Amino acid sequence: MEFMAAAAFGLEGLVKKELNQMGLEARGENGGARFSGGARDAFRANLWLRTADRVLLIVGEGKVLSFEDLFQLALSLPWEDYLPPNARFPVSGKCARSRLMSVSDCQAVTKKAVVERLKRRYKVSWFEETGPEFRVDVSIHGDMARLTLDTSGAALNRRGYRTWNGEAPLRETLAAALVMLAPWKSDMPLWDPCCGTGTILIEAAYQRANRAPGLTRPFACESWPCFPKQAMEDLRREAEEKADLGKIGMIGGSDLDPQALELCKRHIRQAGLGGRITVRQKDLRELTLDADSPLFLANPPYGERLSDRKNCEKLYRDLRALYDRHENCRLCVITAHTGFERCFGRRAAQKRRLYNGRLECEYLIY
Ligand SMILES: C[S@@+](CC[C@H](N)C(=O)[O-])C[C@H]1O[C@@H](n2cnc3c(N)ncnc32)[C@H](O)[C@@H]1O
Repeated sequence: MEFMAAAAFGLEGLVKKELNQMGLEARGENGGARFSGGARDAFRANLWLRTADRVLLIVGEGKVLSFEDLFQLALSLPWEDYLPPNARFPVSGKCARSRLMSVSDCQAVTKKAVVERLKRRYKVSWFEETGPEFRVDVSIHGDMARLTLDTSGAALNRRGYRTWNGEAPLRETLAAALVMLAPWKSDMPLWDPCCGTGTILIEAAYQRANRAPGLTRPFACESWPCFPKQAMEDLRREAEEKADLGKIGMIGGSDLDPQALELCKRHIRQAGLGGRITVRQKDLRELTLDADSPLFLANPPYGERLSDRKNCEKLYRDLRALYDRHENCRLCVITAHTGFERCFGRRAAQKRRLYNGRLECEYLIY
């Protein structure tokens, strides 16, 4: 089977690398990385991918210049190989630069074709749709349509530890990417001086502990008859055995906001990391760590509103003072504020463009 591990713009390369590390040959493309494999591989990707949003099974692709082309393409695909007669199959869609402008019409045409195909194969005239869910997606880009089934269910950033989002949370997938891209050598303490609800801390701890991000959450494909139940249970158990929380080392964070810190502590507990991560209320202006060569990794405020801009620029100068107070430290910062380097008073050693939702950001490494 062909799969697409869908990812946010800018993270495709990391997803490809993660798949390669799992022993899967993957190809990066706009919107994710593509790989071939069996149902077991797709489940493994769901369980272990830290930076992807979903794993989609590609049922078919083809050129579509009209709704009739789309209908014929969807009708020609072997839906019965995956969907049992009682499957629920809602259809979502998106179109970009296509002649088929109406997304809702594309969805309706696809649904009609899948129903027609299943009617012929199962020799029934009506589907109750009371069984497991198979989310069909029709994605049209230019003249090319891709029809997929979503093996993940809820998006993969939903690891299961976050209950409420706080003021400006970072997506778990982006936090995981920041940790992967950071110059974080083994034995280096990691500290987030603006930790908010704790996403970076938890993702860093999961990586150090080799803890699969999807270990405790369900995936849509687990209820699919065409996916091997026993093999998926075995993979989950293997992942459980691989996790070693003893390897976490020194990871901690601080923040000004007591409410964010309450959430942070709750998330840490819900992530199964209680007692493994240090958290304290502290203004970063007063923060001095008693640790050798720490790595500071921060997602500070960006000052998007003009009224916040001055405070934010002052905070970036304070980050410089924090950096100067710690000999041999490294600092990684993600921000949408284009004047970070000017405020910080130094050019970053490395820079990378990333997106925090729709906000174009720079990830700066000192
Ligand atoms: C964009 S949020 C970080 C969100 C966090 N990454 C998360 O996943 O929830 C920025 C955080 O910086 C904190 N902050 C702002 N000024 C600070 C200061 N002087 N010292 C410490 N924390 C500060 C805010 O309270 C806020 O929680």
